[in-house]
Amino acid sequence: MTQKIHVVTLMPDAISGFLKWGVVGKAIKHNIFSVDLINPRDFAEDVHRTVDDRPYGGGDGMILMTEPLVKAIDSIGARAGTRVYLSPHGERWNDKLARDFAGNLQSSPLTLICGRYGGIDQRFINAKVDRMVSVGDYVLSGGEIAALAVIDSIARFLPGVLGNEQSQVTDSFADGLLEAPQFTRPPNILGQEVPSILRSGDHRRIDQFREALSMAMSRELRPDLRTNNHDRQWQLSRELLRSVSRDELRVCGLSPQILDEIYGDA
Ligand code: ADE
Repeated sequence: MTQKIHVVTLMPDAISGFLKWGVVGKAIKHNIFSVDLINPRDFAEDVHRTVDDRPYGGGDGMILMTEPLVKAIDSIGARAGTRVYLSPHGERWNDKLARDFAGNLQSSPLTLICGRYGGIDQRFINAKVDRMVSVGDYVLSGGEIAALAVIDSIARFLPGVLGNEQSQVTDSFADGLLEAPQFTRPPNILGQEVPSILRSGDHRRIDQFREALSMAMSRELRPDLRTNNHDRQWQLSRELLRSVSRDELRVCGLSPQILDEIYGDA
């Protein structure tokens, strides 16, 4: 059965344009999942098809009215599954949530609700929303970009979407670390040469090297991802990286600071 995502949005064209392309576009074409777009404006009953109004108590921005949103959601009925409102108030979206939502999608649909800048009437949230998701501590002018980020990151975890299921294992965050840098032909360009290990054909060493690079990159760029387990593995990674030249590690994007830590006496 095709897995279903509904998106309630005042800008369906912005969503549908994106869904034609890349990995997500291919997955939809192959019926691995499908996306239905529901526009609350289609449920507004006055001649102007009004969906927003000024906030009680004053303030900037227009607020999405409850009624068209309720009608839009109710038109989906029980097929809506879990109803998620995209909002900076929500739980912070991450790789683990993407994986969990993809798992749930196998048995139950997902409905993503996009607000606009001023927000939506709280009573709609109280009555019709199961959970809220935020894509980061910043305010978007609407939920559409957040909904696309959620759909894209979920799609990667749906069986059959990525040609190479291994990428879910090696992609950034899969093991709590950033992915190692990647290179493609030519071997030498911009005065930088691809590290020789990656061209050696020795896959055991390549895997070890990539893991050590992941560790070093994450240590430098995302110290918040660091765990005791990573700290224990760091010494091993460091030894492996010390067997590679400084130039090669520089090509891998490591900074002078982390290179000093790798080659230093510590
Ligand atoms: N809508 C507006 N800002 C948002 C954010 N940071 N995350 C999710 N939805 C949003």
